[in-house]
Amino acid sequence: MAQGSDRTGLQMQDADDPLALFRKWMEDARLSELNDPNAMSLATCTADGRPSVRIVLLKRYDENGFAFYTNGESRKGAELRANHHAALCLHWKSRQRQVRIEGSIAELPPADVDAYFKRRHRMSQIGAWASEQSRPLASREELIRRTEEIERRFPDEVPRPPYWTGFVVTPERIEFWEEREYRLHDRFVFERTASNTVWTKQRLYP
Ligand SMILES: Cc1cc2nc3c(=O)[nH]c(=O)nc-3n(C[C@H](O)[C@H](O)[C@H](O)COP(=O)(O)O)c2cc1C
Repeated sequence: MAQGSDRTGLQMQDADDPLALFRKWMEDARLSELNDPNAMSLATCTADGRPSVRIVLLKRYDENGFAFYTNGESRKGAELRANHHAALCLHWKSRQRQVRIEGSIAELPPADVDAYFKRRHRMSQIGAWASEQSRPLASREELIRRTEEIERRFPDEVPRPPYWTGFVVTPERIEFWEEREYRLHDRFVFERTASNTVWTKQRLYP
């Protein structure tokens, strides 16, 4: 079990603002994770309640929510449009910590997505055009061929594909979990209703 002065559950116990605590844990994770401290599981559901999950990168978080970017025509894109609820889960092995976030989902405004797309590496921008994410692909060669074609099509600036988008999860429930000895872990859940900005906090059995 990892040792350290912050591994006493006290960060959670003293926190009133889950976003501030999340920021602290993310900063901790950036210092110790091998890679991608912002990798998170994103769970979505079909309209009739069948779940699916995959990893995406958390690109921004603030009082408006937790944002990521993707292909809006992907499987997750279709599910997010059919069912406006999503769940996120971050696990930082190096810190033995987990954060679970649940809430409603909304698409980010086009200006926001444009601004982020412009900052991406040219080849990632090309890749966004080349990949029909989640749909069948005959061969790797086909993907390379499409990539080369798009490089020729956009020799200078690469515009954002109309289907490439971003989503934000507005949290209604944020749970912090930290490993403690003998599986007597610490868990705190912060909850608020969509119409309420004040968080309530509750300790949970592990
Ligand atoms: C570390 C990591 C980060 C990823 N980040 C993203 C991301 O930010 N956006 C994205 O669309 N896919 C990302 N992916 C790929 C997704 O996990 C997934 O394969 C893809 O989005 C298709 O999912 P879907 O078919 O359920 O829509 C990432 C995968 C890994 C392993």
